[in-house]
Amino acid sequence: MLGNFEYCNPTKLYFGDESLKYLRDELKNYGSRVLLVYGGGSIKKNGIYDEVIQILNESHKEIAEVSGVMPNPTLEKLYEGVNIARDNEIDFILAVGGGSVCDYAKAVSVSVHCDEDPWQKYYLQGEEPTCKIVPVGCILTMVGTGSEMNGGAVITNHETKLKIGHVFGEEVMPKFSILNPQYTLTLPHYQMVAGFYDIMNHICEQYFSGTDDNTSDYISEGLMKSLIHSSRIAMKNPNDYEARSNIMWTATWALNTLVAKGKTTDWMVHMLGQAVGAYTDATHGMTLSAVSLAYYRYIMPYGLDKFVRFATHVWDINPNGKTKEDIALEGLSAMENWMKELGLVMNITDLGVNENMIEGLADSTLIMNGGYKVLERDEIIQIFKDSL
Ligand code: NZQ
Ligand code: ZN
Repeated sequence: MLGNFEYCNPTKLYFGDESLKYLRDELKNYGSRVLLVYGGGSIKKNGIYDEVIQILNESHKEIAEVSGVMPNPTLEKLYEGVNIARDNEIDFILAVGGGSVCDYAKAVSVSVHCDEDPWQKYYLQGEEPTCKIVPVGCILTMVGTGSEMNGGAVITNHETKLKIGHVFGEEVMPKFSILNPQYTLTLPHYQMVAGFYDIMNHICEQYFSGTDDNTSDYISEGLMKSLIHSSRIAMKNPNDYEARSNIMWTATWALNTLVAKGKTTDWMVHMLGQAVGAYTDATHGMTLSAVSLAYYRYIMPYGLDKFVRFATHVWDINPNGKTKEDIALEGLSAMENWMKELGLVMNITDLGVNENMIEGLADSTLIMNGGYKVLERDEIIQIFKDSL
């Protein structure tokens, strides 16, 4: 049965190759002191930085900057940004980059006016903000995380080897996001395909749970089919605007809370992947691809009917004359073949993990309880071993 829920997504989107022009109007809604947040320099190389600075200057904004937000942003970097934001008494945060930059901007937004330590409050204790929140807007340059239209903010603490995401509520979600598919065309191939798998796995995390007949699962299947189709076009021609724009739109819907409505969700691949990320600092999408198949093959017997449905609805596996197990396994093999077509990292050894690290990885893995199987510690260890 479709469960009871509330649905509200307050993020306004501007989509398309002319979408930056709406920044000017949006900026009128916020104060004069803007914190511009960006990563390691890609936006300076491809010209987006200059375009944004021009609009900020023409809008008479005072600009403070936090640059060098790294993939998998760290707690130290969060403290740095909070200090800059406080020193400049900022009114608004403009994130220009991928999921790391957007996540980081949200983490700063809930910490600037907070007296408590953000790591303790939000990430270890999972509390909600009790302070004034600085509004955030995003200009997205990398497709995958859905951070442009959700409340997620993942921070890595290398000292304690923990990578934790807090999913904040509506008040922290970006006020607006600008999605220009052209901006994603300069992404290195490795990041592009990592993003493709991140999208796929976000959908899987919400799809592989429950046994009911749920509209959200049909929406998920449509998103997965669109992604698989467009990813194959983008692999042949990365500059295919139609494919890249479809993928950008799919990514947003894959994780803007819609397809989780009325059902439980799993998120265990992300927990395994985040532990790998905390140890290796590897690219997020690749940490997921490296553990996924071992995980799904392990839990398949516990959610067999959904895996059969995945095989037939998403991968068009012909079920005639086959057992449920065979159909389900064929579906996972079809996903594996697609992952190899994309050139994803298929095991954690290639990300720098070795057998001696597995106990530590298991310690860093948070256990979720919404999927088909609540994993025990020895099962987590087994899945990591199967992923080597
Ligand atoms: O730093 P720069 O120089 O900008 O380079 C970045 C970075 O090295 C580069 N890049 C981005 N756009 C580019 C570009 N290079 C050339 N041209 C462009 N247009 O790509 C690299 C990766 O960027 P990053 O933002 O780290 O990637 P992604 O969007 O995958 O974000 C990953 C972070 O998001 C978190 C992950 O854990 C990770 O920390 N997640 C956030 C989620 C959420 N908010 O809900 C959910 C996800 O599951 C994920 O956990
Ligand atoms: Zn993800």
